[in-house]
Amino acid sequence: MRDLFDKIYRDKGPLGKWAEYAEGYFVFPKLEGEISNRMKFNGKDVITWSINDYLGLANHPDVRKVDAEAALQYGSAYPMGARMMSGHTDLHEQLQEELAAFVKKEAAYVLNFGYQGMVSTIDALVGKDDIIVYDVDAHACIIDGVRLHMGKRFTYKHNDIESLEKNLDRATKMAEQTGGGILVISEGVFGMRGEQGRLKEIAALKEKYKFRFFVDDAHGFGTLGATGAGAGEEQGVQNEIDVYFATFAKAMASTGAFIAGDKEIMDYLKYNLRSQMFAKSLQMQLVVGALKRLDMLRSDKSHKEKLWNIVTALQSGLRDRGFDLGTTQSCVTPVYLQGSIPEAMALVKDLRENHGIFCSIVVYPVIPKGLILLRLIPTASHTLEDVQITLDAFSSIRERLENGTYKRMSASVMAAMES
Ligand SMILES: Cc1ncc(COP(=O)(O)O)c(C=O)c1O
Repeated sequence: MRDLFDKIYRDKGPLGKWAEYAEGYFVFPKLEGEISNRMKFNGKDVITWSINDYLGLANHPDVRKVDAEAALQYGSAYPMGARMMSGHTDLHEQLQEELAAFVKKEAAYVLNFGYQGMVSTIDALVGKDDIIVYDVDAHACIIDGVRLHMGKRFTYKHNDIESLEKNLDRATKMAEQTGGGILVISEGVFGMRGEQGRLKEIAALKEKYKFRFFVDDAHGFGTLGATGAGAGEEQGVQNEIDVYFATFAKAMASTGAFIAGDKEIMDYLKYNLRSQMFAKSLQMQLVVGALKRLDMLRSDKSHKEKLWNIVTALQSGLRDRGFDLGTTQSCVTPVYLQGSIPEAMALVKDLRENHGIFCSIVVYPVIPKGLILLRLIPTASHTLEDVQITLDAFSSIRERLENGTYKRMSASVMAAMES
């Protein structure tokens, strides 16, 4: 018999195996200073394109003031315990009512963390006779929620309605045998590539198939739709979404999350979400902070307008220079380049050290081999000057990638990796 840890000593996993080259720089980097368009990395000023502070609220003086006052008043402990036991307050309820109204649903339920909340919501919505049909590119929290499911599940090809229909056919036949129902899950915006989920087309399938529709709108909430209510509002199908999820960790620049839908469904979920029933409630300073942020989302459209000015300038500037942004339909701005992992490392080092640009880098196995994805997250706190500097930097790194500079620079790393 083996020691349990043997496999860990042998294999650090698909990402962990790069730790020696990547840790502290490409992964687990330490960005310092106040959250904004400009921060410090390794002691250098960088334009930061890797933070989901879409509306620039993280460091807004009014937000910081409310956060500080709430911390002073409540500390970080209050309320203690799970919502169901001793962690429930009037302000949690007020936040739920305001969130429900904002996303045009009857009721909402506040979650301590988005990831766990998503996992538990999926878990609570389905029983062993039910069938889940979900997009193959779903976020890890959806995949983990589906993993808990005791019944059947089918994936459909990413944003492919024909594939979804095929799987709905299979699921419908199966549900007729089991006596269960069908849950379809999509994201409002797919965070890596920036595509919106095809919510309108999915919702239209309700005419033909019987299912309930659950949307994780982590990146859409606050950034899309006329009022900022997200991808469902943007596509005119908010009413067709049966359970809507968004996190506070992106446009709301905080921690926590919520689900929203019909009151009866929310009432059921609040008694059945294991990650909420058996874990501490969202702390009061975060609840108060969320109320403030929601108020700003509702009452001041200028944050969203500023965001979209930057998104438009960045995305059209990159496209004009011939960069491939794939199929993004949101603020998420992916730039696809061709190259190996060592070339990607040299390129990102050049971007950070010589151009002062900090963005995330994504490589195989997250995306196909031979592709480099530089992922930029524009925010309302960026300026047009930041955009211009970034466009020039991107032209420069592309030239060096194409003329083999990074290949030469990374030859020793390449040799070490191949050995
Ligand atoms: C699509 C999506 N769903 C859920 C989550 C999890 O949210 P949280 O950070 O609040 O746990 C994230 C990441 O923040 C996400 O990108």
